[in-house]
Amino acid sequence: MKKAIIIGATSGIGNELARLLLKKNYFIGITGRRLNELKKLKGKNPNQVMINSFDCTLDNNSQRLTDLVNEMGGLDLLILSAGTGDLNESLDFTIENNINLLNVNAFTEIVNWAYKYFYNQGHGHLLVISSIAGLRGGRMAPAYNASKAYQINYLEGLRQKAHKNKKSIIITDVRPGFVDTAMAKGEGLFWVSSKEKAAKQIYQIILKKKAIGYVTKRWWVIAKLLKLIPSGLYKRM
Ligand SMILES: NC(=O)c1ccc[n+]([C@@H]2O[C@H](COP(=O)([O-])OP(=O)(O)OC[C@H]3O[C@@H](n4cnc5c(N)ncnc54)[C@H](OP(=O)(O)O)[C@@H]3O)[C@@H](O)[C@H]2O)c1
Repeated sequence: MKKAIIIGATSGIGNELARLLLKKNYFIGITGRRLNELKKLKGKNPNQVMINSFDCTLDNNSQRLTDLVNEMGGLDLLILSAGTGDLNESLDFTIENNINLLNVNAFTEIVNWAYKYFYNQGHGHLLVISSIAGLRGGRMAPAYNASKAYQINYLEGLRQKAHKNKKSIIITDVRPGFVDTAMAKGEGLFWVSSKEKAAKQIYQIILKKKAIGYVTKRWWVIAKLLKLIPSGLYKRM
């Protein structure tokens, strides 16, 4: 039985992935601040789920993950789906800072922990849900776009490191467009995927051990277009 931890399993993409991995017969460790939501998942699958509820921005993530993996008795796959973002036209620093605390600081601690765990084990799979937003800056939520760019670059660094270290550590960067969760904010949303479809596509990305995956797949086109727009034009958008 494969073992996976899902950080941010209480709602949205992480919750849907947890449900799917249970169907695929994984043993899972799930986290998030809303203990009740974690208990709901465990209640339906008591022998397949371990829970550890904590706030990634306040707690000792490394210790929590070590405790969880010890209880689970091993780890093949770590999925980091915990993330936050808010529209912030007024540039309220508290909003920007809260985004950075989770998407940058906690992210860094968690992926460091995962890399070292998989390094010592000799193999493993780390998957992070970043965002298409990380491909360019964004006036509506500057810290969100910048934090996702940080994640994308950091993961590329870890991928290079794993190769240099000759370790079989797979680093997957999943870049969703819009998925129908609490996180999908703002006007003009398009190509919004259901959580179920997103989770199914992410599962295929896991099976294929891909480095980068767009969800849904057609967001690949938007990613290419975004990169092509000259900065002089982009700033007018
Ligand atoms: N939905 C989209 O359109 C979209 C698009 C691109 C990228 N993404 C990315 O996808 C990831 C998942 O988001 P989602 O759409 O599934 O939204 P979501 O339903 O809001 O899920 C966010 C998850 O993160 C957890 N979380 C938030 N703050 C936390 C904290 N301080 N400590 C621990 N856990 C925390 C939440 O759990 P608790 O609240 O229980 O702690 C929840 O499980 C995010 O990184 C997001 O940036 C989403």
